[in-house]
Amino acid sequence: MPKLLYLVAGARPNFMKIAPIIRALQRRPEDFAFRLVHTGQHYDREMSGVFFEELGIPAPDHHLDCGGGSHAEQTAKIMVAFEKICTTHPPDCVLVVGDVNSTLACAIVAKKLQLPVAHVEAGLRSGDRTMPEEINRLVTDSISDWFFCTEPAGVDNLRREGQPENAIFHVGHVMVDNLLYQKQQLEQLPPTHLASGALKARLGGRYGVVTLHRPANVDDGATLARIASALNTLAAELPLVFPVHPRTREQLQRLTPPLSKGITLLGPQPYMEFLNLWKDATLVLTDSGGLQEETTALGVPCLTLRDNTERPVTVQAGSNTLVGTDPGTILRAAQGIVRGQAKRGHSPALWDGRAAERIVAQLQHCLAKGAR
Ligand code: UD1
Repeated sequence: MPKLLYLVAGARPNFMKIAPIIRALQRRPEDFAFRLVHTGQHYDREMSGVFFEELGIPAPDHHLDCGGGSHAEQTAKIMVAFEKICTTHPPDCVLVVGDVNSTLACAIVAKKLQLPVAHVEAGLRSGDRTMPEEINRLVTDSISDWFFCTEPAGVDNLRREGQPENAIFHVGHVMVDNLLYQKQQLEQLPPTHLASGALKARLGGRYGVVTLHRPANVDDGATLARIASALNTLAAELPLVFPVHPRTREQLQRLTPPLSKGITLLGPQPYMEFLNLWKDATLVLTDSGGLQEETTALGVPCLTLRDNTERPVTVQAGSNTLVGTDPGTILRAAQGIVRGQAKRGHSPALWDGRAAERIVAQLQHCLAKGAR
């Protein structure tokens, strides 16, 4: 009898992580059945629907429609809706990915119903408890049964927190599985297929890419203004392209002085358009967790506009450098890269496109043994 998994996805970065897991599960129908649960945390077409189409994810079996609201409201709505599904049709295991509110909400519901929880991208810690994601990571890992880690730091953190050795698995990164898969698809597309191709040509093939959406960077006008002053100065020597997250949109409208004309603002980008942009960028400036890892996987220089990272392998082995939010520091680091002093790096162990395969194989053993 195949084991029934509930796969939880709710916010943009979840979709990239779920896609390769679904492909791996679809290759083993005798061992696994699955239902995809979309919590609706992200709901705009450009933050959600477009990824299902591009990444080849089947339509969700359950859509909980729980977007918007405060953290408590969003988490509570997801919990109530997910509990109904789990009690009506209990699965053998709930698989959650990453560190968003949907991850936390569904892990709690599952454990209270005594359902085993597998956490993919487990063990990451920034040490910064002002980050909502850090709270989500700590709580989810404290109650999960099986931990699938992207990098050695994840394994070390879980050991330090007392999780049992035989529940922790260093498997690589499903986000990189997806990246390598989509990059191959991109290489097969005609060059004129993507709008970003024309933009790259217009910029003469030399540009930087910016993304910002962390509450600590964008909700506080003063911090955003400091970052913007560095971007405006940099844009005088390197054109910048900035796809704007919905959280950032309003704050940018209030910004004085505004962003310079050397910065091309776009809406949130579909995966392929965005990949086509950043993979050939001179540098990426970001506060995204996923992009720190994706740039590391392809060796693109990345400056992370934060003081800490829960993904230290991207700094130790990869092409990522932490620069914080001080305009002078950002600018010096960016200008160094523009002048040819880019940090090269290498792709971390097991970031080889086969993490989902390892997770599914391991999960079969775990489920055969039962929840710990
Ligand atoms: C969430 C995750 C964050 C992740 C990010 C990726 C948490 C705590 N945060 O942050 O870890 O890196 O997603 O994008 O789970 N909004 C829209 N349309 C949408 C989605 C959101 O307009 O489709 C707007 C709404 O005003 C919403 C706000 O963005 O209230 C914030 O959305 P939310 O999901 O709460 O957090 P993110 O900042 O997107």
